[in-house]
Amino acid sequence: MARSPGLRKALAEKFDDELKFFKGWIDKPKTVGSIVPTSSITARKMASIVNPRSGLPVLEVGPGTGVITRAILALGVKPENLYAVEYSTDFVRHLRGLYPGVNVIEGDAFNLDATLGDKRDTVFDSVVSGVPLLNFPVAQRIAYIESLLDRIPHGRPIVQLTYGPLSPIPAGRGDYTVEHFDFIFRNIPPTQLWIYRRPSH
Ligand SMILES: C[S@@+](CC[C@H](N)C(=O)[O-])C[C@H]1O[C@@H](n2cnc3c(N)ncnc32)[C@H](O)[C@@H]1O
Repeated sequence: MARSPGLRKALAEKFDDELKFFKGWIDKPKTVGSIVPTSSITARKMASIVNPRSGLPVLEVGPGTGVITRAILALGVKPENLYAVEYSTDFVRHLRGLYPGVNVIEGDAFNLDATLGDKRDTVFDSVVSGVPLLNFPVAQRIAYIESLLDRIPHGRPIVQLTYGPLSPIPAGRGDYTVEHFDFIFRNIPPTQLWIYRRPSH
């Protein structure tokens, strides 16, 4: 069956993303967490927590191949208002090529003060996180979420994806609430989305 040039290009890009992702997974399975990029359904759902009219920048953590980055930009967030923190040098190079205006920062999301450098005191609108938390001890996960919550206004959300059945951040262990946001079967593997916030008092 003949395919249109547009469809062929889209399929080639998707295949290219999947190859990059698979290579990242072979190099560092613990940090990549999944063997296939996030589905566009999951990406759109995660991006939906962002308020593009807040006037504040947005923080994305663990963008990988950039599927969720694309969904955040599609909401109307200006590239210069998006900060994407990624650990893998290969993904960083790929993201910088794909989204030239986005602030792609290479570094460790578990040490955000150092990674953000002179942007460490920035107040963000919200956080979208794809970092695979289940590979890390619970105390480290809680410190991670608290460090992200310190960077957004009280009441605003962090959305986190995970492949386990439970919230990777247990409730009752810090100054945050835990909400189940969605279960997306059409993701490989099926994914759960969780939201964390500081109560707005
Ligand atoms: C499950 S993948 C995210 C998938 C991404 N949404 C996609 O579709 O390509 C996890 C990503 O988090 C990144 N990552 C893992 N640990 C990290 C860390 N400590 N700091 C920053 N990024 C990290 C990995 O390199 C990988 O790109």
